[in-house]
Order: sequence, then structure tokens, then C-alpha cells
Amino acid sequence: MKTLEGKTALVTGASRGIGRAIAIDLAENGCNIVINYNHSEDGAHETQRLVEEKGVKCRLEKADISDKEECDAMLEDILSGEGGVDILVNNAGINRDRSFLKMTRQMWDEVLGVNLNGPFNVTHGLLPHMVEQGWGRIINISSMGGQTGNFGQANYSVTKGGLIAFTMTLAREVARKGVTVNSVSPGYTHTDMTAGMPESAVDSVNAMIPMGRMADPSEIASAVSYFASPQASYVTGQVLGVNGGMYM
Ligand SMILES: NC(=O)c1ccc[n+]([C@@H]2O[C@H](COP(=O)([O-])OP(=O)(O)OC[C@H]3O[C@@H](n4cnc5c(N)ncnc54)[C@H](OP(=O)(O)O)[C@@H]3O)[C@@H](O)[C@H]2O)c1
Repeated sequence: MKTLEGKTALVTGASRGIGRAIAIDLAENGCNIVINYNHSEDGAHETQRLVEEKGVKCRLEKADISDKEECDAMLEDILSGEGGVDILVNNAGINRDRSFLKMTRQMWDEVLGVNLNGPFNVTHGLLPHMVEQGWGRIINISSMGGQTGNFGQANYSVTKGGLIAFTMTLAREVARKGVTVNSVSPGYTHTDMTAGMPESAVDSVNAMIPMGRMADPSEIASAVSYFASPQASYVTGQVLGVNGGMYM
């Protein structure tokens, strides 16, 4: 059933990885898609092709979400073109891993800029429209690292824990306005972000996951589509871990 027919979703960082899988899964449910990307133009076009195969409308918006001006220009374009966004998926994220003793202030700032300021810039621009229309879905992609901490990821974990707190706070603020705010918290997932891990590290990670393997991006996307769906109308402020049982 195409339960999201007539809706429009903006997925940040949808040129590859989990964002691409989310865009495809929402499109499968009949949702029109706006793909945000920063550097991977070819990847964004490939996501667009895969989304359009599902028979929905799709357009591309290039913007660095950590840059307020670029982000505002993108939102202006979307609001004038699409008339607004019903579903926002704050997915774009980066990591710059190093033990805290060796972490530079630049590594800290870069990760906070994309992973936390990015969702501020995008959400702040789109929320008034959702409130005005009395319907909206915001889904923040956090991470298991934001719930447990992770060696070498002080900057990244701070942003993901922060996104979870943001999810709960915003959920309370807009609960009576028809807007739900939830978070999907992935565990280790096969994307470019984990592709650089040495084989020995992958083996030891797999050994720690009760299901014994990393996630496929489509398994994260299913959880996002659930939060966007009419079936989740009474669900807000929640964090759904999709981590093979690694954190429970
Ligand atoms: N993979 C995992 O194991 C894992 C686990 C837990 C949580 N997560 C979270 O899931 C989300 C997606 O991760 P992924 O694994 O799919 O990562 P990925 O494969 O590295 O893809 C990252 C995406 O974010 C976009 N992006 C990065 N910086 C951006 C910026 N400044 N403005 C706009 N877009 C930007 C990239 O776009 P361009 O390539 O076009 O620049 C790309 O589409 C992230 O928030 C990540 O923290 C991932």
C-alpha cells in the first residue's frame, strides 16, 4: 500500500549509504522525494534514478547543511518549488575519529557543524510550515554511539546523543501541532562510513553483535518509513535502535 502518496520528504545526505536507502524506501511507499547532497553529484543522480523507478517525483538539492546560507537557499528553493516538506529525515552525518587526547578542535567543530548544526539549520527552516499545516514527521538519524559512547568518537557520540535529546525536546514542543519527532539509532551498517574498517576490526565488531553481522542500509530505512507512516501516528519522542541487538 502506498501510504505516503501525496507527501513530500526531504532526506539530507541521500547521495549514498543509509540516506539513499531511506529515499528509496519512502518512494516505495509513494512519497515524493527531495534529495539533499553535498559532494557526490553522481551518487545523487543515481539515487534520483532509483527513486524515480518507483514512479514518484524526485529532485536534487545541493547544499552543505552545516552552512546556514547554503542551507537557507536550499530551503527557499524547496518551499517555493514544492510548497513545503511533510517528512524531514535528518540523515546527513560525518565522522572524524580519533582518541580524545589526539582530537583537534577542528575535528570537533567539523563533526558538530554537520551532525548538529546541520539538523538545526534544516529543521528550523522547515518546522514552521509543518506546524502551519498541522502535520509533519521529523526523523533524526542518531547512532548507537550516542547511547553507549564509542572509543575514538567523542565528537561523533556527542552529536548523536545530542540528536536524541533534540528529538525528545522537539517532540514535546510540537506534540499538539500534529508533528511527530522520532529517532532511528543504527548500529554498525554497511556504508562508506564503515567501509574503511580493517577486516580484523569488522570481525571483532561482528563478534560483539548478537546477530553476528552488520546491518544493510535497507534495514535502517524500514524503521524510518515506519515513523513516517500513518501507523506511527501516536508515536513521538522515541528512539528505535536498529543494531542487531548490540545495545538493548
Ligand atoms: N554506517 C553506519 O555504521 C552508521 C551507524 C550509525 C549511524 N549512522 C548515521 O547514519 C547517517 C548516514 O550515514 P552513512 O553510513 O550512510 O554515511 P555515508 O555513507 O558516509 O554517507 C553520508 C551522507 O551524508 C552526506 N553529507 C555529509 N556531509 C554533508 C553536508 N555537510 N551536507 C549535506 N550532506 C552531507 C553525504 O553527501 P555527499 O557524499 O554528497 O557529500 C552522504 O550522502 C549518518 O548520520 C551517520 O552518522 C551510520
